[in-house]
This record gives sequence, structure tokens and C-alpha cells, in this order.
Amino acid sequence: MAQSKVMSPAQRILSRIGSITVAILVVALLGGAWLIGRFGSDTPVGYTDDLEHFKYGSLGSEHEFGVPYWIWRALPELFADKLPGKGWESVGFVFEKGKNLPVGMSQRRYLGFDVVWLNCAFCHAGTVRETARSEPKVYTAMPANTFDFRAFMRFLFATGEDRRFTPRNVLRQIKVIRQREGLDDLPLIDRLVLRFYGIYYMRERILTLRDRLNFLKEQPEWGPGRVDTFNPLKAYFNFPADQLAKEERIGTTDFPSIWNQGQRETLKMNLHWDGNNVSLEERNRSAAMGTGITPPTGDRRSLKRVADWLRDLAAPPYPFSINKELAAQGAPIYKRYCAECHGADGKDFRGEQVGKVVPIAQIGTDRRRLDSYTYDVAVNQNLIFAGYGEERFSHFRKTFGYANSPLDGAWLRAPYLHNGSVPTLRDLLEPSDKRPKTFYRGYDVYDQKEVGFVSDVSEENGREYFRYNTEEPGNSNQGHEGKRYGTELSAAEKDALVEYLKTF
Ligand code: HEC
Ligand code: HEC
Repeated sequence: MAQSKVMSPAQRILSRIGSITVAILVVALLGGAWLIGRFGSDTPVGYTDDLEHFKYGSLGSEHEFGVPYWIWRALPELFADKLPGKGWESVGFVFEKGKNLPVGMSQRRYLGFDVVWLNCAFCHAGTVRETARSEPKVYTAMPANTFDFRAFMRFLFATGEDRRFTPRNVLRQIKVIRQREGLDDLPLIDRLVLRFYGIYYMRERILTLRDRLNFLKEQPEWGPGRVDTFNPLKAYFNFPADQLAKEERIGTTDFPSIWNQGQRETLKMNLHWDGNNVSLEERNRSAAMGTGITPPTGDRRSLKRVADWLRDLAAPPYPFSINKELAAQGAPIYKRYCAECHGADGKDFRGEQVGKVVPIAQIGTDRRRLDSYTYDVAVNQNLIFAGYGEERFSHFRKTFGYANSPLDGAWLRAPYLHNGSVPTLRDLLEPSDKRPKTFYRGYDVYDQKEVGFVSDVSEENGREYFRYNTEEPGNSNQGHEGKRYGTELSAAEKDALVEYLKTF
């Protein structure tokens, strides 16, 4: 009967609800799929070339610390008054021609945004200029000689503390930059996420980091090319900073060069400045934490690729002229005095004492870095990767001096010693009372005579260089002196030895 086709009012309502539910479900599913596509991706910008991968590839540090690319661009313009000079360059970041990101910064699409943060190269890549007028040449795996980590952090913290760090101001600055580059404003959805969440969150993160690293305020300035390696780790472990012994509160060190890691591994060298770890794999993994990765967030494949590449990466040859005759006179002097501790030459690292630790009383250099690394740190480090099977650290140990490392690429490792307290190789061959008491760091013009960077320039084009004072705690330029260390050689012998070290 026709009646059966006619729905009662109740049935009609139910049927209507049914279609609405289906429609909502479809929209929700489509919307969900779109949101997952839009905000769920996790894809690094990749590089086929290993060198590019080292300079710009992602190790996963963006997962924890990623700054949205456009905010990274906006900060130095919005807070120009908080930087020591113009742009990111003024804290020593190196920009290659045609790149918007500096060497040492990677990019990844994560949670719907292009986010950027750091990789190994921001501490392990630097520049050299032949003269003040030459273009800087980038050398990877050398110490980051121009980069001032602390000035960078100081800037970030200052932005976080500033009342101008509001969604409105940041988004307006982004719009200005994009307009200048011929781009439309950010998509509405991005602006909404940043306005109601992203920018507040980022500011919170910056301030949290500032509070964590509060103890750094008490340390003398590091200047470019240096960092305190292990005290930040104590903050990570929540050691109360005010209860640390006075002697362990400063651990400022020079960035080292990191080429030829394979031979260091084969010869089982104890490395880091104090020789606290014999395992290359662990040194790399703990280094990766320096970029901001944590055990769950690291990109292991990417890190392995960097580590493999560093195994056979050779130190770059000295690019200026070498007096072959003079260098040949230096070779036997090196062999007699230095080879036992520093290896047969710049390519063959074999030697009785290489990779071993010289007790502090004997080497006599500044002991702060040594004392900053304590037994408590070693023990706690062994817990960091505890849930990750074989990745757990098991080789860190407390030592009692500094390690004998090979001198490959010695010419690029200035200033010298673990705290970077001696500007040139020639100065290192003088007894400490004849080494410079103050000098400037961060400048990249090369001093071919003394071998190191020119260290008496205080300022160039508005960038001020850092005045290193050997009287500050942690900065002593004493030690590595006496007959065995070449400081009693004649001036002519020292010149010959320095010429020979150019070939390393
Ligand atoms: C925050 C700056 C920083 C970052 C980022 C960094 N390093 Fe280092 N690296 C250092 C410093 C400083 C040392 C010296 C540590 C010490 O002994 O105090 C070092 C030491 C090393 C060493 C041991 C060198 C030796 O011969 O003793 C290796 C290998 C190394 N880093 C590799 C890497 C790799 C690979 C990465 C990226 C995954 C990386 N580093 C990221 C600062 C950094
Ligand atoms: C008994 C072992 C020993 C002898 C001999 C020795 N050194 Fe060293 N050398 C060391 C140690 C240990 C360090 C690290 C000290 C520190 O940084 O506090 C070092 C550091 C250096 C550095 C700085 C490396 C850098 O990256 O900053 C240079 C350069 C150097 N030595 C050159 C020489 C020369 C040249 C000779 C020979 C005239 C020589 N050394 C003799 C043990 C030795």
C-alpha cells in the first residue's frame, strides 16, 4: 500500500539525521585527510651531494627546536636593535651566495610548516679570506671560526623577552619580507596557527631555554669559535647549577676540526679534548645532541651519512705558497720533538702516544675544561640513550689531562690549544710569557707568516671582533711549553717547523 512509502514525522527526522551524519562524516574524513596531509608531513629538504648534506642536511633537530622558516627570516629585521650588527651575519653565520639559510642550518617540512634549525656544520664549518678584499671561502669540518654561539643565543633570548614578540608584529614583518620578494602573504591557515599558537609557543620555548642556560651568565664571554661543551649537559640533567663546585663551572673550548675520523677510529684514539671517549660512534652521537636532537627525535640515517662521510674526509691542503726548502728543514725537527704525540705527519697518524692523554700537571694548559667534565656527568651520560639498546653510551670516562691528537689541517685550527688561547702556530712555539696576552678572534683573513688568523683587527665593516683576554678564567695560554714542546728551539728552527706544519 501507498501508505508504507509515506514516512511518519519521526522517521523523517531520523532519515534527515542519517544524511546529515553521513555528510558530516564525509566532510570530517576529507577534512581529516587534508589536515593530515597539511600538518602531518615530516620531510626534510634532501641533498644528493654529501658535502651539501653536511652543510644543509637535516639531522632531525627541527623536531624539537624547529623555528618556522619565515619567523627565522623575520626575527633579525623585527629585532634589528638586539643584534650586534646587520642580520644573522653579525653573529657570525656564514651565507653562501644564493642561499637563504646559513651554512649549518637545515630545513624540514614538519607539522605543516617549513621549519629550520641546526646541524653539525654550524660548529664545524668556517671561512678563510686571503686578504680583507677577497671573497670568503667556506671550509667544511674546520672549526666554525666566525660563529659566536653565545651572541646568537643572547639575541634569541632578547627577542623572547621583548614586548614586540607578538603574533601581530611577527606576522606583519613576514608579510613585509614576502612582499619585498614578490610573494603573497602566508596562507590564511598558517597565519591562524601562528597567530593563536605558534608564536606564543615559540616565545615560551625561548624563555624556557634561557632559564635552563641561566648559569652561562656567570661565565666569561666565549667569543666566536668556542662553546662550553659539557656544562649545558648538566642543565639537561637538571643538576642544580648553584650547587656545582666552582672549579667545574667553566668549560669553554675551541671547536675542533673533524676530518679524517676513520683513522682516528682505527687507531683507537681517546678523543674529545680531554680524551674522554674512545668510541667515534659515541662521539658523533653525543655531538648530534649538540645540534638539538634527543634520542627519540634524531634522524639516524642522516647522521650515519654524515659520520660515514667524515671518516675519509681529508683535511684541505694549505692554499697559499709553501717554501719547500724551509719546510724540508722543519720535517726532522717535527719528527724528533712532536711525532710521538701528534703522529708521523699530517696524513699518517701513527705514533707511540697519539690518542693518549697527557696528565694535566705535565701538559700544563688551562685545566677548566678538564675539571668541567666530572665523573657525575660521565655516569649520567650513560643513561641518556638507555632505552635505545645498543645506542646507549658506554665509553665516556673521566680523565686527568688532555689528549694528543693528530695535527691534520693544523693551519685551519687556529687559534690553538683546547681553549683557543694562542692565535698562531708561531706563537705556540714561544713560551707562554711571550705569547700574546690579548688578541682578537672571529676574523677570517689569513696570516701566512705566523700561520693562523690575523688577530689584531678589532672591527671591520661594522662587525666588532672579540677581544680574547688570557687573564679571564678558562682562557689561560700557559702550558705546552718547554723543550719537548719546541719552545726552546732557535727562531730559525721554529720558522722551519711552522713551514713544515703548513703541509699537514
Ligand atoms: C654546538 C656546537 C657543536 C655542534 C653542533 C657539533 N659539534 Fe662536534 N664538537 C664540538 C665541540 C666543542 C667539540 C669538542 C668537545 C670537547 O672535547 O670539549 C666537538 C667534538 C667533536 C668530535 C670529536 C673530535 C675530536 O677529534 O676529539 C667529533 C667527531 C664531532 N664533534 C663531530 C660532530 C658531528 C658529526 C656533529 C653533528 C652531528 C657535531 N660534531 C656537532 C661542537 C659541536
Ligand atoms: C707529550 C706530548 C706532546 C708533545 C711532545 C707535543 N705536543 Fe702538541 N699537544 C699535546 C697535547 C696534549 C695538546 C692539547 C693541549 C691542550 O689543548 O690543552 C697539544 C696541542 C697541540 C696543538 C694545538 C692543536 C689544536 O687543534 O689546537 C698544536 C698545533 C701542537 N700541539 C703542536 C705541537 C708541536 C709542533 C710539537 C713539537 C714541537 C708538539 N705539539 C709536541 C701534546 C704534545
